[in-house]
Amino acid sequence: MQRHFYNTDDLDFVEFVALCSNSVNQQDYTFSSDIQKNVVIYDGEKIRSVIGTPQATKLKTELHHCLKDGPGLFAVRQAFPDLKAVDRATEVFLDIITQEKKSAEHHGDHFAKPGENERIWNALQKLCERDAEAFAAYYDNPVLCFVSEAWLGPFFQMTAQVNIVKPGGKAQQPHRDYHLGFQENEVVSEFPVTAQILSQFLTLQGAVAHTEMKIESGPTMFLPFSQQYPLGYMAWRDTKFIKYFEKNSVQISMKKGDAVFLSPALFHAGGTNTEKTDRIANLLQISSAFGKAMESVDRVKMTKLIYPVLFEKKKRNQLGENEVRTIGASVTDSYSFPTNLDTDSPTEGSVPETAQSLMERALNKKWPVEKFCLKLDEAVKRRIP
Ligand SMILES: [Fe+2]
Repeated sequence: MQRHFYNTDDLDFVEFVALCSNSVNQQDYTFSSDIQKNVVIYDGEKIRSVIGTPQATKLKTELHHCLKDGPGLFAVRQAFPDLKAVDRATEVFLDIITQEKKSAEHHGDHFAKPGENERIWNALQKLCERDAEAFAAYYDNPVLCFVSEAWLGPFFQMTAQVNIVKPGGKAQQPHRDYHLGFQENEVVSEFPVTAQILSQFLTLQGAVAHTEMKIESGPTMFLPFSQQYPLGYMAWRDTKFIKYFEKNSVQISMKKGDAVFLSPALFHAGGTNTEKTDRIANLLQISSAFGKAMESVDRVKMTKLIYPVLFEKKKRNQLGENEVRTIGASVTDSYSFPTNLDTDSPTEGSVPETAQSLMERALNKKWPVEKFCLKLDEAVKRRIP
């Protein structure tokens, strides 16, 4: 019978090296604009031109292949083309950090020494609370939705954390990310390896550059193809694997508004910042509808904050065709379950109405803010047992 449970004694360094010695086959990535150091690079403009056309599924397939069977990451140049929106978000982030520093709350980081970086947890909700218009301008991004759906399918849950690495901030240890990247080896070994492999399909990691990121500033180091090693969640603390990462990982420079997306199973680590300026990234952690996100987010509160912004645009006939969908995807709880099926019975088909559908319906019918908030509260109440 095939084995399903493994421990650190089963780590196979030779198998790992063989996987990581692969090279990207350019022919597999017909929509890409470049391949650098085994990183597939796309132009955001190209992706935007394909979204909504018959080629879209082909591109989604290519992106999914890249993360699963290819190098495990891709970069998108100008993924966030509106640099004013990026700068505006950065300003809000810096304000939040200043305010949080004044408060007594201690914010620990899991992979960096104190003082070398600044971290904003749940930057998604905090940006929305501080400046809902800035939030809407930033997350009205069809590329972000498209790449998220390419890996996770619809109804994903956005979360975001800001990381600012100070000049002199040292490189992180290589690691894998959430889910199992946060667990000790003993816990990981309790999961059948099929679940370990499956877990990477529940999260998409992204990083948006909010500053120029030359190699000297220490953009994230990646080990292409390492996401394919089945026992990788127990391997990243092993000295042999760390040394291999140090010799073979790659970095690419990024400009403000560029983004990189990766499988959470890819071995990676933030680099050392040898520049004189801060390196600022908005780290997106996007969860499958079928998974538990890392951070709790008050999506009802955010939905109530975003609705007036969208409603004003609707009234002025300035609401873009896909704007409710793109912004809503990062805001609302857009999955029907879990719910209370006694009180929240399906309206159409087999699924109860989601907050996203409710918001779309409300905007189409031009419900005033008060009515929408009331209906949303009622819908939330129906889901509680
Ligand atoms: Fe990470």
